[in-house]
Amino acid sequence: MWKSCNSTHLILFLLFISALAVLSPILATDHIVGANRGWNPSINYTLWANNQTFYVGDLISFRYPKNQYNVFEVNQTGYDNCTLDSAVGNWSSGKDFIPLNQAKRYYFICGNGQCYNGMKVSVVVHPLPSPPKAAPSAHNSSSDSAVLVVPQQGFWALAVSLAMLCFGFGWV
Ligand SMILES: *[C@@H]1O[C@H](CO)[C@@H](O)[C@H](O)[C@H]1NC(C)=O
Ligand SMILES: *[C@@H]1O[C@H](CO)[C@@H](O)[C@H](O)[C@H]1NC(C)=O
Ligand SMILES: *[C@@H]1O[C@H](CO)[C@@H](O)[C@H](O)[C@H]1NC(C)=O
Ligand SMILES: *[C@@H]1O[C@H](CO)[C@@H](O)[C@H](O)[C@H]1NC(C)=O
Ligand SMILES: *[C@@H]1O[C@H](CO)[C@@H](O)[C@H](O)[C@H]1NC(C)=O
Ligand SMILES: *[C@@H]1O[C@H](CO)[C@@H](O)[C@H](O)[C@H]1NC(C)=O
Repeated sequence: MWKSCNSTHLILFLLFISALAVLSPILATDHIVGANRGWNPSINYTLWANNQTFYVGDLISFRYPKNQYNVFEVNQTGYDNCTLDSAVGNWSSGKDFIPLNQAKRYYFICGNGQCYNGMKVSVVVHPLPSPPKAAPSAHNSSSDSAVLVVPQQGFWALAVSLAMLCFGFGWV
C-alpha cells in the first residue's frame, strides 16, 4: 500500500513544503506608483497611496519617460516644500525599483520642478506581522499569537492533506 507513495513523491512533497516555507516570508509586493498612470504631473498620489498597504520588504516603483522626470527621496520638509536639501537618494532610470526596508514614512518627489504639479508621494511602511521575538515589551502577546497560529494551522492543514493524498492513493 506504500507503493505509490514512493521516494519520488516524498521528495517532491518535501521540496514543495520547503519552497513554501522559504518563499513565504520574502514574497514582496511591488507598488507601482500611480498604477497604470505612472509617475506624471497632475495625479493625486495621496489617493493612490491611501489605497495601498505597504510592508517592510516591499518595493515602490516609479515608471516614467527617462530624462523627463526623476525621483528623489527626501524628508517631510522636502516633501512639503518641494525642496531637495534633504535628499538621501535619487533615481532616474525611468523604471526605478526602490526597496522599502524600514517601517517608517517615506517621502518621494520629482526633482525637476514638477513636484509643484503634484509629483510627490508619501507612503507609510508597516512592520511585517511578525513572530513573538519582535517587541515583547509593549505588546500583550496573547492577541499577537492568535495571528501567528492561523498561517501555521493553514500550513499544517496543507501538509497533512498532501500527505493524506499521497498515502490515500496507496490504499486505493
Ligand atoms: C488629494 O486627495 C486628498 C484626499 O482626498 C486631499 O486631501 C488632497 O488635498 C488632494 N491633493 C491635491 C493636491 O489635490
Ligand atoms: C483602489 O484599488 C482598487 C483595486 O486595486 C481599484 O479598483 C480602485 O480603482 C482603486 N481606487 C483608487 C482611488 O485608486
Ligand atoms: C517648509 O514648509 C513648512 C510648512 O510645511 C514651513 O513651515 C517651512 O518654513 C518651510 N521651510 C522652508 C525652508 O521653506
Ligand atoms: C529635512 O532636512 C533638512 C535638511 O537636511 C532639515 O533642515 C530639516 O529640518 C529636515 N526636516 C525634517 C522634518 O526632518
Ligand atoms: C544623486 O545620487 C548620487 C549618488 O547616488 C549623488 O552622487 C548625486 O549627487 C545625487 N544627485 C543629486 C542632484 O542629489
Ligand atoms: C495580557 O492581558 C491579559 C488580560 O487581557 C493579562 O492577564 C496578562 O497578564 C497580559 N500579559 C502581558 C504580558 O501583559
